[in-house]
Amino acid sequence: MGGSLSFPEVDLKDKVAIVTGGNAGIGYETAKGIAKLGARTIIACRSEEKATAAIERMKAEIIATGSDQHNIEFMKLDLSSFNSTKEFVVSFKEKQLPLHILINNAAVGSVPLTMTEDGYEAHFQINHLSHFLLTLELLPVMLDTAQSCKDCRIVIVSSTAHKSGVFDPQNMNGEVSYSRLLFYCHSKLYNVMHAFALQRRLKESDITVSVLHPGIIKTELFDKGFSESSVASTAWGIGKFLLGPIMRDAFQGAATTINCAVNPELNTKECHYYDSCKIVSSIPLSMNTDLQEQLWDISVTNVKAWLSPEIVEKYCSAQKIGLEETTPETQTTRANPHCTDSTEEESTTTKNESTTKDKSTTKEELATKNER
Ligand SMILES: NC(=O)c1ccc[n+]([C@@H]2O[C@H](COP(=O)([O-])OP(=O)(O)OC[C@H]3O[C@@H](n4cnc5c(N)ncnc54)[C@H](OP(=O)(O)O)[C@@H]3O)[C@@H](O)[C@H]2O)c1
Repeated sequence: MGGSLSFPEVDLKDKVAIVTGGNAGIGYETAKGIAKLGARTIIACRSEEKATAAIERMKAEIIATGSDQHNIEFMKLDLSSFNSTKEFVVSFKEKQLPLHILINNAAVGSVPLTMTEDGYEAHFQINHLSHFLLTLELLPVMLDTAQSCKDCRIVIVSSTAHKSGVFDPQNMNGEVSYSRLLFYCHSKLYNVMHAFALQRRLKESDITVSVLHPGIIKTELFDKGFSESSVASTAWGIGKFLLGPIMRDAFQGAATTINCAVNPELNTKECHYYDSCKIVSSIPLSMNTDLQEQLWDISVTNVKAWLSPEIVEKYCSAQKIGLEETTPETQTTRANPHCTDSTEEESTTTKNESTTKDKSTTKEELATKNER
């Protein structure tokens, strides 16, 4: 299964790949690497201006290597909006393309408490919920593609930070407490849980779902997250300095993702968690089927208004995959106190951590809860 930071040079001619957040950091190197192998590569990101500049740079870098494989295009996707996510899916379907590879890479990292236009905590929606919606809505296209090609891949970029995450259905949107670092970790835990729950639903298909930690990589992820004040960015600057010796560059950061997307040996139809191109263990909590299904149900509840009826019918009932349904009290809806109509103004406001409420459940309490 490979243990080095490399991937085989497979021919992806006639294949179509989508990379979310393909304009920067690890996503940039991932999209470039996939395009260079011959795939028509769609970088799905929120800024056309940044995407156009990134595509020009990618093409120039590919051409400089002597290759003419640079079929790369931009499609608009803002994961902080379910409308935008749904519009992306509609536009993609209008192109009538197959879909061989979907890479859920985009994320925000450690931002102060921010509510999206849909009223969700930013890490929860951008890093998990919108990718959940995107993936489910693209499944019919990928399942069609898989019938002939027999090898399609969904790759979810998580992080070793998932190990510090917990799953608390009562605090998905920071209703009880908020810590920007922890909410990033929670979202990365949801990425792992989502991957395993998704593969369970695709066990009869020719789609392999993989989830991974790309390494500690020099990108702007946390620079952006900590940019709102000089105190925050100075603190992160010190953190970055200390992490310096173990940091890899974005090119190395893309290797595990690309390997999961293209390595023929990984066409296993089994979900695994990877680090440095090797299968490793994610934390036991992430492997708990009951909790994975609870998260699945919560995610469905929150994006149901944007899901097509046939998707709900096919993938949103645990009974259909031979599991008990989870109980309604484990579900959360858009219940954030910052998002009611009367506080609409607040819902779009970036809040400082100092507004965090005191009633926080301790991490130990939640960990015990999650282990049950
Ligand atoms: N860097 C690390 O050390 C590290 C470690 C473990 C895991 N990861 C994971 O690796 C992945 C890539 O991170 P990175 O380090 O490459 O970060 P990055 O350089 O900040 O790139 C993040 C990408 O996500 C996009 N994005 C953010 N919000 C978005 C939104 N609302 N809609 C659409 N796209 C959005 C960004 O677009 P803009 O350019 O418009 O902001 C950017 O393209 C993430 O899933 C992260 O959790 C990174």
